[in-house]
Amino acid sequence: MRLKGKVALITGAARGQGEAEARMFSREGAKVVVSDVLEDAGRKVAKEISDGGGEALFVKLDVTSEAGWKQAVEATVKRFSKLDILVNNAAILYTEPVLETTVEIWDRTMDINSTGVFLGTREVIPHMRRNGGGSIVNIASLSANVAGPYAAAYHASKGAVRIFTKAAAIQYAKENIRVNSVHPGPVDTKMIRDAYAESWLKRIDTQSPMGRMASSDEIAYCVLFLASDEASYVTGVELIVDGGWGAQ
Ligand SMILES: NC(=O)c1ccc[n+]([C@@H]2O[C@H](COP(=O)([O-])OP(=O)(O)OC[C@H]3O[C@@H](n4cnc5c(N)ncnc54)[C@H](O)[C@@H]3O)[C@@H](O)[C@H]2O)c1
Repeated sequence: MRLKGKVALITGAARGQGEAEARMFSREGAKVVVSDVLEDAGRKVAKEISDGGGEALFVKLDVTSEAGWKQAVEATVKRFSKLDILVNNAAILYTEPVLETTVEIWDRTMDINSTGVFLGTREVIPHMRRNGGGSIVNIASLSANVAGPYAAAYHASKGAVRIFTKAAAIQYAKENIRVNSVHPGPVDTKMIRDAYAESWLKRIDTQSPMGRMASSDEIAYCVLFLASDEASYVTGVELIVDGGWGAQ
């Protein structure tokens, strides 16, 4: 019960890593707000958590919407009285290199992956402040640290998350609000399987020191640590979880 009594809001929690985090956080004693643009899948995750004896609420949230953030945080506090943890997990991936990146691809990627993280952070800090502290975990990517042949806008958006995290961390550290980022290498979810052909994904087996992608749970355990009071002196860090990929 590493999150006993905590209230956590997770974006993009209808599937993939966000779903794994919602289920794991609930198993560890948290009350969980599952949020996503995918309504049916998100409701299903929240219902299964509740049916299994946990406490969960689904809130439809497009992370690019300022009004949406206000409503989601209000709904969280109304139902569970407070908000201790925010996981900014929602994101999209376009794989186009620079010359193929349209302004629409660039703007959409920055809106969801970077602006969404800023809006969420700005919305929850006053509640955490009132509560005496809190933990924000931003899901960046190894793509924030090392470049690759694809995905120009994605790299830029995750680089923004990396340094925004550190700025927010030092600005609110005195108020016991911790802000950290998690940087996964390849994770076996719909995002990467939709983006890349099977032949390209097979290269991961030879290029990764561990010879495989991560599971969503392997990332979620790291998010859990940063979200919990076990990480009470950890702020402004980037936790790379990549099976050794970036160490090469
Ligand atoms: N899968 C990987 O290889 C990998 C690697 C590094 C980092 N990441 C990061 O991990 C996080 C989780 O990704 P995943 O692998 O679970 O992918 P995923 O595509 O399975 O999940 C992403 C979720 O975000 C939601 N989402 C998309 N746009 C949204 C919006 N505007 N508002 C709210 N929700 C929205 C989607 O509906 C989906 O449920 C993302 O931040 C991603 O960039 C993934």
